[in-house]
Amino acid sequence: MILGAVFRGLGAHPAGWRHPGAHRDPLRDAAVLKRTARTAEAAKLDYLFFGEWLATGPDLEFRDPDLLARIDPVSSIAFLAGLTKRIGLIATVNTAFADLYTLARQTASIDRLSEGRAGLNVVTGADPRAAGNHGRDGRDGTEPNYDQASEIVRALRLLWDSWEDDAFVHDARSGRLIDPGKLHRTDAVGEHVRVTGPLNVARPVQGHLPIVHAGTSSRSRLLAAELADLSLVALPTVEQAVLFRAELQQQALAFGRERGHPLVVTPVLPVVAATTAEARAVYDELLRLVPLDDGSPLAQSPDFPANRSIRALSTVVGVPLGTPDLDDAVPLRVTRRFSDGGQRLLESVATRTGRRVEGERAITYRHLLASHAVPATAVVGSAREVADHLDGWFTDGAVDGFNVLSPFLGAQFEAFTGLVVPELQRRGLFRTEYEGRTLRDHLGLERPQNVHVVEAREVGRSA
Ligand SMILES: Cc1cc2nc3c(=O)[nH]c(=O)nc-3n(C[C@H](O)[C@H](O)[C@H](O)COP(=O)(O)O)c2cc1C
Repeated sequence: MILGAVFRGLGAHPAGWRHPGAHRDPLRDAAVLKRTARTAEAAKLDYLFFGEWLATGPDLEFRDPDLLARIDPVSSIAFLAGLTKRIGLIATVNTAFADLYTLARQTASIDRLSEGRAGLNVVTGADPRAAGNHGRDGRDGTEPNYDQASEIVRALRLLWDSWEDDAFVHDARSGRLIDPGKLHRTDAVGEHVRVTGPLNVARPVQGHLPIVHAGTSSRSRLLAAELADLSLVALPTVEQAVLFRAELQQQALAFGRERGHPLVVTPVLPVVAATTAEARAVYDELLRLVPLDDGSPLAQSPDFPANRSIRALSTVVGVPLGTPDLDDAVPLRVTRRFSDGGQRLLESVATRTGRRVEGERAITYRHLLASHAVPATAVVGSAREVADHLDGWFTDGAVDGFNVLSPFLGAQFEAFTGLVVPELQRRGLFRTEYEGRTLRDHLGLERPQNVHVVEAREVGRSA
C-alpha cells in the first residue's frame, strides 16, 4: 500500500490549529517541517506531499487557514532534501503559471540533491487571484488548461533527457569531460511551449521525476491516463473508486502504457487515538472549535462564511429550525422531519462522534452546523478501525494507496504514524523498512530510459 503524508502546518481541518494537541507555534515553519519529515520518515512513509495555492486573502482565515501563508512547495522539498535520507518529497506546481525551463532546472536539481527522491504534482487550477499575481487579467485563464499541462509534462521529460546518463566521461588524461554526442537539444515547440534546451542540469537520478496529477474532471482523467505515474483523486465510495481506477487504467492502456498504471491514491483524513471513544472525543472537539454564526463579534467579520448559520442549516435539513441555542440538543420530534440530506448529516455526526439524538451524549445544533460547515470526510476511530478502512479500500482494488491528511500537527500525525502504521505493518500491508533508495523504488515504478538512447537504438536497428 502506498502511504504519503500531506504537509499542512496548520492542519487539514480548519479548526485543527485551535486544538490543544496542535503545534502552538505553527509558523515556525522550519522546525515544524523538520519534525514532521522526520516522523514521516521514521514511519517509512512513501512520501511527504506539498500542495500549492498561488494567492491569499482574508476569506481563507475561516475556509482554509493553512492556505493563508506558507512556505512554497518547491522550497519546502529542497529544504527537506538535505534533512532526510529515504522519504520521497513531492511538490505541487501549477502549470498555468510555471516557467518551463526554470521548473525543469529546479526539479532536476532537487532530484539530484535528494538522490532521487523528488516528485512533481502537476495541477491546472485556474484562479483569478493567482492570475492577478502573475501579470494576467483575472478573467484570463479561469479555465484549467490541460493542453498546456500536457505539453509541459512532455517538454519536462525531454528537458530531463538532455544529458544521457553517461554523458560525463571525466577523462582527466585526455582532457575530455563530456561526450558531446550524448548531450541533446530539446526543441519542443507547441501551442503553449517553446524551449530549445538542452537543460543545464544533469539527468535526474530517477531519469524522470514521478508525475502526480490531482484532478477530478474527465479531461483531468485523460491527462492522468496519458502522462501521470500517480493519479490523486477524491472518491466518495469504494464502488465508485473501483470503477474509476479500472476505467483510468483501461484508458491508459490505449495510450500504450503498462497494465496497472497510473497508480491511484485518494486523500483520507484520519482522526485516530488509542480507543474509539478517545478518537471520537478528538473529532467532537474539532466540531466544537469550528467558529459558527452564534452572534459573536467574530461572526460579524466581513469574510465569515455564510453557510455557518442556523438559517443555512435549516435549508440543508429542510426544516425551519428557528433560533435555538447552538448548544441545545436537537429533539427527536424535529429530526424526524429532516430531509434525506439532514438524515445523512445526522448519521455522519453520529458515526464520527458516537453521539445520538436525545442520547446520553446528545447531538446538538452546533454539531450539525459545524459538520455541515466543514464537510471533511474524516475516518474516526482506533488504530484498528482506521486500518480496517484503509485495508478495505486497498484490498477491494479501489486504490493503490492514500494521501494522509492530519486534522492538526503534530499530535494527530504522530497518532497516525505511531498507531495506524504499525497496525498496517502487522497486517503485512505496509513496509517495515525502506527497500529502495528513490521515490520510484518506493512506488514500484521503473526508471525510464532516455528517449534519445531509445531513438538511437531504434535507428541503429533499422539501419
Ligand atoms: C485531491 C486533490 C488535490 C488537489 N490539490 C491541489 C493543490 O494543491 N493545488 C491546486 O492548485 N490544485 C489542486 N487540485 C486541483 C486540481 O489540480 C484541478 O485544478 C481541479 O481538480 C479542477 O480541475 P478538474 O475539475 O478538471 O479536476 C487538487 C485536486 C484534487 C482532486
